[in-house]
Amino acid sequence: MTQAKADIGVYGLGTMGSALALNFADKGFRVAVTNRETDWIAPFVEEAGPLSSAIVPAQTLPEFVASLKTPRTILFMIPSGAPMDAMIETVLPLLDEGDTIIDGGNADFHDTRRRFDLLSGTGKHFVGMGVSGGEKGARHGPSMMVGGTDHSWAQLKPMAEAIAARFDGNPCVAHLGSDGAGHFVKTVHNGIEYADMQMIAEVYGILRDGAGWTAPRIGQLFENWQDGPLASYLIEVTAAALQATDPETGQPMVDMIKDRAGQKGTGRWTVIEALKLGQSANAIEAAVGARGWSSEKTARQAAQPLLTAGLIDSDVPTADDLADALLAARILAHAQGFRLLAAASDEFDWSLDFTRISEIWRAGCIIRSALLDDFAQAFRGALPHDHLILAPAISAKLADAVPALRRTVAAGAALGTPLPSLSAGLAWYDSMRHGRGTANLIQAQRDFFGAHGFERTDKDGKFNAVWPDLK
Ligand code: 6PG
Repeated sequence: MTQAKADIGVYGLGTMGSALALNFADKGFRVAVTNRETDWIAPFVEEAGPLSSAIVPAQTLPEFVASLKTPRTILFMIPSGAPMDAMIETVLPLLDEGDTIIDGGNADFHDTRRRFDLLSGTGKHFVGMGVSGGEKGARHGPSMMVGGTDHSWAQLKPMAEAIAARFDGNPCVAHLGSDGAGHFVKTVHNGIEYADMQMIAEVYGILRDGAGWTAPRIGQLFENWQDGPLASYLIEVTAAALQATDPETGQPMVDMIKDRAGQKGTGRWTVIEALKLGQSANAIEAAVGARGWSSEKTARQAAQPLLTAGLIDSDVPTADDLADALLAARILAHAQGFRLLAAASDEFDWSLDFTRISEIWRAGCIIRSALLDDFAQAFRGALPHDHLILAPAISAKLADAVPALRRTVAAGAALGTPLPSLSAGLAWYDSMRHGRGTANLIQAQRDFFGAHGFERTDKDGKFNAVWPDLK
């Protein structure tokens, strides 16, 4: 008897691929699986236990492709970059018109756009899909940001909706636009993730270094914040991490971890794209930069006894102030992310739906938080000038919380505790609330040394001034 064909194929049985394959099987789909190292396949099927009856293992790529229902839907969970290009080249001749291949990794959206273009006109389809939520999310309900054609989405939708996280019954997956839209939105999600993590770490820093609190005590405070407007996955994770003990030493686990952060690139891509689009996501940039500085551990250790100047006595902000400061800064970082999405949507013609993006970020993904539902609500109303911070409900929240952010940033500056992301968020807020900024002076400087010209406040056109000679 020949085996029934599979609904979807998952290529790549690493952590995320395995978890997604099991999730599909759990939701009643037949899943074909394969892996470059074929000796991973049998253990995976064995570990699937009762779900193994829904899994169709294949030892070779042709066998894998042949085991799928047509039009085929194949999800690749392999390293982004060159391996994906090589895979496309190998698999394309085995596919038929109408088939869709999906890159579910954290790919650079420029690569996704290029690959989408490569396949367009061939009758075969390429989808870039951002998947958020880590291993647990992938297994039990991720948030997914999908790009590509309507044809591919029609094929993928029932399966993606079945495995996605749910918020009030609403699946956290959406087709957001053509070509690289899904991967771009995932990139910005990660940029916001970087900022949120950094801002939480800055609050930890001021409590640890300014107030001398222990890690478990800070963890307890964060745990309490889970009952308020800061409720979020990242606060939950942080609270638990700060209260964990190292079994080897009995010390708080975080005290035994080197203060050097890794990064795989999505935060950096967010910042690069923001700058290319004439934007600045400075709260996110500060977070990416902070990871960079964190890696210069030896230099920082050498600098500690040398860079001692200029500290000023200050109280450490109260716990309530820190909570409000974090809330304000979290709003600002998200608002920068959404502003960047708006700029990219215009540039690449994606018509991104910010309500839908907020909705699919409410569950499953790493940045899920109580705020995302407020953002979804705000995007349903009028949004002046594409700025979330100008939505009435959001600017009202900021009005309540920004005074605490000011006090916190001021205290950090006085005490010499670095708050790069919190202070960047505040600087942006203050830039935005100045109808008249200081770029008139920048224009004067540019015209002075390079005759670059400027606009005048009293009439239209481009002008140059006759500047005095320098003595
Ligand atoms: C997610 C995460 C995930 C990312 C990790 C690590 O949404 O599930 O964003 O995709 O890979 O968070 O990223 P860094 O190594 O760059 O910190």
